[in-house]
Amino acid sequence: MASDKLRATLIADKSFVIAEVDKRIYGSFIEHLGRAVYGGIYEPGHATADSLGFRGDVKALVKELDVPIIRYPGGNFVSGYNWEDGVGPVEQRPRRLELAWRTIEPNEVGTNEFMEWAKDVGSEVMMAVNLGTRGVDAARNLLEYCNHPGGTYWSDLRRQHGVAQPHKIKTWCLGNEMDGPWQIGQKTAAEYGRLAYETGKAMRLVDPDIELVSCGSSSSAMPTFPEWEAVTLEHTYDVADYVSLHQYYGNRDNDSANFLARSMDLEHFIRTVTATCDYIKAKKRSKKTMYLSFDEWNVWYHSNESDTKIEPWTIGPAQLEDHYNFEDALLIGSMLITFLRHADRVKMACLAQLVNVIAPIMTEAGGAAWKQTIFYPYLHASTYGRGLSLQPIVNSPKYDAQDYTDVPYLDSAIVYNQESDELTIFAINRHLEEALELKCDVRGFEGYRLIEHIELHHDDLKAVNTAQEQHVKPRQASGTECKDGFVETLLSEASWNVIRLGKKA
Ligand code: AHR
Repeated sequence: MASDKLRATLIADKSFVIAEVDKRIYGSFIEHLGRAVYGGIYEPGHATADSLGFRGDVKALVKELDVPIIRYPGGNFVSGYNWEDGVGPVEQRPRRLELAWRTIEPNEVGTNEFMEWAKDVGSEVMMAVNLGTRGVDAARNLLEYCNHPGGTYWSDLRRQHGVAQPHKIKTWCLGNEMDGPWQIGQKTAAEYGRLAYETGKAMRLVDPDIELVSCGSSSSAMPTFPEWEAVTLEHTYDVADYVSLHQYYGNRDNDSANFLARSMDLEHFIRTVTATCDYIKAKKRSKKTMYLSFDEWNVWYHSNESDTKIEPWTIGPAQLEDHYNFEDALLIGSMLITFLRHADRVKMACLAQLVNVIAPIMTEAGGAAWKQTIFYPYLHASTYGRGLSLQPIVNSPKYDAQDYTDVPYLDSAIVYNQESDELTIFAINRHLEEALELKCDVRGFEGYRLIEHIELHHDDLKAVNTAQEQHVKPRQASGTECKDGFVETLLSEASWNVIRLGKKA
């Protein structure tokens, strides 16, 4: 144990319930962008490809992550997408100029193929409709095509396309990042609010069981944030169930202490959007609570420069291929911890994205599928972070970074799974040089023993994985003890930790 160095304490108690974790916070995202679809999940010539051309090795890794929901088909892509191009006989589908990413969209994969793939990997789909170049009509037709059983024009067309049973897609995004100047068909808040409301209203008439996500700001740094939320929700509050949040972080200045504190910004973003939703709720005298769908989040900056050199109008170019290092994995862990601590309002979150494009899973053409560093905190949270999120009562030393003050070295979340009767403590030591001595009071969990302490740590914050070698991968930490209602452990400097307790140790 450390001498008189860095020390923190944490109390875990069954009574301090924040909320039941909605498993959909472990969602992800596949956009028709770069090598996510073409050359990612879909590579017909690959040795592991199934009859539809989907790679089996990629499916296996997605299944390992146990992703409950996947957003599709965009992203910026959706704002110029004609969904009708992606259904029916593949050989008759048009090739289109794809304007969001300036590629060619061959439409070999469309709604029905993707739904088949999602079923195979055990995920629900969060479908986005185009409110950039299109509107009410295209959205209600797509919903009728997907969810209506039959006996109407669009539902019978689906049946003619070989899909007898409706897809029953529950969650629908009303457009994507409509506040962004880069968005095809960008709108003012008032324009978007009206269109989203009318689209949502028509969609609910087609299928009253759906859930709708109103488009929030593209990031907390947008000049129109949070006015965008206030104005759009005035229109969409009654028709929508969630408002979306998007946020990506980077470490361009190479200031790792500041970078690891970025989840403080995330925390502030969530609090501000929650407050704005509650302001509209009060204004409308509404009884309904608006929930948050963090449907795009990740680290994204490594690939920015190389992306400017990409040749336009090709199919599946290597766009947004961030090669993640160890410190990126730590921030991903910290962002997941933040979602868990806001389990009462954040009900969905999609790590953007899933394969090749700013992704935990990478593929080589004709070769291997492999795990980036960020795969691991995502895997651990998805596997062990289901149940009740408990409020950690923390006493931790703090530091000041470039953009944040009072940053606790210990970042943590606690999940109690009633089914398995297991308690999991997720903990990050943000200190870059010193180990942190942690004492957890778990007296409320009598008879629990240590199952394992998983640690993700590397001496080099910039270490990366490759197709050939997993330099950054989890290992079992030693020295952690659970005795007389207390867990005592030493968290390595710059580390992600998963401490699991249960009765059946
Ligand atoms: O995830 C990559 C892009 O980031 C998405 O297409 C867009 O919605 C966001 O700006």
